[in-house]
Amino acid sequence: MAVHKNTPRQSLTVVDNRTGKSYELPITHNSVLATDIKKIKAEPSPTDTAEDETKQGLRVYDPAYMNTAVVQSKITYINGLEGILRYRGYPIEQLVQKSNFLETAYLLIYGELPTEPQYADWQSEVGQHTFVHTDIEGLLKSFRYDSHPMSMLTAGFAALGAFAPEANPSLRGQKLYTAAASGDMESLKVLDKQILRILGKAPTLAAASYRMRQGRPFNRPAQGLSYTGNFLHLLDTLSDAGKPYTPHPVLEKALDALFIIHADHEVNCSTATVLQVGSSLVDPYSVVAAGCAALYGPSHGGASESAIRMLMEIGSPENVPAFMKDVEARKRVLVGFGHRVYKNVDPRSTAIRQLAEDVFKVTGRNKLLDTALELARYARESDFMRSRNLYPNVDFYSGLIYQAMGFPLDFYPVLFAVPRCVGWLAHWRQQMLTPSGVKIWRPRQLYVGSGEREYVEARERERKEGATVFDAPVQVHHGGDSKRNLLAVGRVRARL
Ligand SMILES: CC(C)(COP(=O)(O)OP(=O)(O)OC[C@H]1O[C@@H](n2cnc3c(N)ncnc32)[C@H](O)[C@@H]1OP(=O)(O)O)[C@@H](O)C(=O)NCCC(=O)NCCS
Repeated sequence: MAVHKNTPRQSLTVVDNRTGKSYELPITHNSVLATDIKKIKAEPSPTDTAEDETKQGLRVYDPAYMNTAVVQSKITYINGLEGILRYRGYPIEQLVQKSNFLETAYLLIYGELPTEPQYADWQSEVGQHTFVHTDIEGLLKSFRYDSHPMSMLTAGFAALGAFAPEANPSLRGQKLYTAAASGDMESLKVLDKQILRILGKAPTLAAASYRMRQGRPFNRPAQGLSYTGNFLHLLDTLSDAGKPYTPHPVLEKALDALFIIHADHEVNCSTATVLQVGSSLVDPYSVVAAGCAALYGPSHGGASESAIRMLMEIGSPENVPAFMKDVEARKRVLVGFGHRVYKNVDPRSTAIRQLAEDVFKVTGRNKLLDTALELARYARESDFMRSRNLYPNVDFYSGLIYQAMGFPLDFYPVLFAVPRCVGWLAHWRQQMLTPSGVKIWRPRQLYVGSGEREYVEARERERKEGATVFDAPVQVHHGGDSKRNLLAVGRVRARL
């Protein structure tokens, strides 16, 4: 790299006012190393506690990871201010228009768009790994009929690991995957085989969780359909009497595009979870199950479901102002708006607006659309929303499409988790192939609790002065108990 005469030094000089010492910290990729900060040491001040460990070096405090980069990644780039989302350099809008989900999956995981022969192999290999062991079907059938499909999907992925002992580093050795980084081809083969298995089986598990709820038999995966075409077949085929299943092309295309949009989003909550869990070198099935658990939360993958529930609650456009008054009074959250990174426009929401039109032409217009549009219009003009840079995110529109396509509300997170397996696996693969090895992720904390104290014998203990409701367990109701039992065990007093 050429160094120009007037190029400023790529470093940060900080002065520790406690000691008067000055430190020069190198800046790389516009970041400083947190371990360089640790070199800044001082004697404890009178207000420091022993637990502040002042002599051991300055710590970086960043609750909720507001400004902490935890990896170097080549996978996805997001520019939140300009509304840019690129997979391996390709703008999301181009991929939605020109690519398909399986091709985009290859791009995300392996770094380049596949050549024609590479794509043909990839499609066929993923297709070969779509069946799950029939015992997994038994596991899913053991769930209650009304279980949330994400519970089933999460359990299904965790259980899959038990069927692949050869893929388990706890049984086959710690370096089962990380040896691939130094060119061990056997290790790389095991690694890539699990990627095929997880991608192939994700729609099968997801569709089983859907069919379970309806009491319908599970369909067998089909060959010769696209990834999303096979998924629709697994969900919808009612009988195999004669005619092979052909998905509706508009719906298949829309689902495929939604899958592309949801395939990755750099180090979001579930991907960070995947990397955190992956750093312990556990098997990839447990890693993906952990990703599912993170995605299930309403602040992450549950938002499209909550957005529709919110629109249903609002009911019609004339109720929007009253609802927004509650949002502006901070009594409610406008679900489907706001994003930790996008502070201007969510490019994914732009990319799917046209899709929504295409789907509504086939399915009929979603009745909630008018309410949604009125909400978006109101939000655009609301000072509260504008001053906080709150714009519609992808979940605001995706839920409307899913609903028009007839998916049940609690299936929406599943429709997010299946394509997101690609992102999780791309990041997991990148992590396993880190040339310098995988270090276990172990964040720090600032301990602000009690200092050391002596154990007190039970008979000498007294209720803490000023104790609040948070300082002891609250009394809970035992819903399943009968009155007879409660009386018998003395948890309610008999009226004699
Ligand atoms: C996505 C989300 C969790 C991002 O959170 P974040 O980056 O931590 O943003 P913050 O919580 O710091 O919000 C900043 C401010 O905007 C407000 N805010 C953020 N999202 C809001 C929303 N959807 N409705 C109303 N107010 C919102 C916060 O109350 C806060 O206000 P304050 O500064 O007066 O305290 C948040 O915007 C949210 O909960 N959105 C709704 C859920 C959703 O759609 N999730 C899907 C994301 S793809």
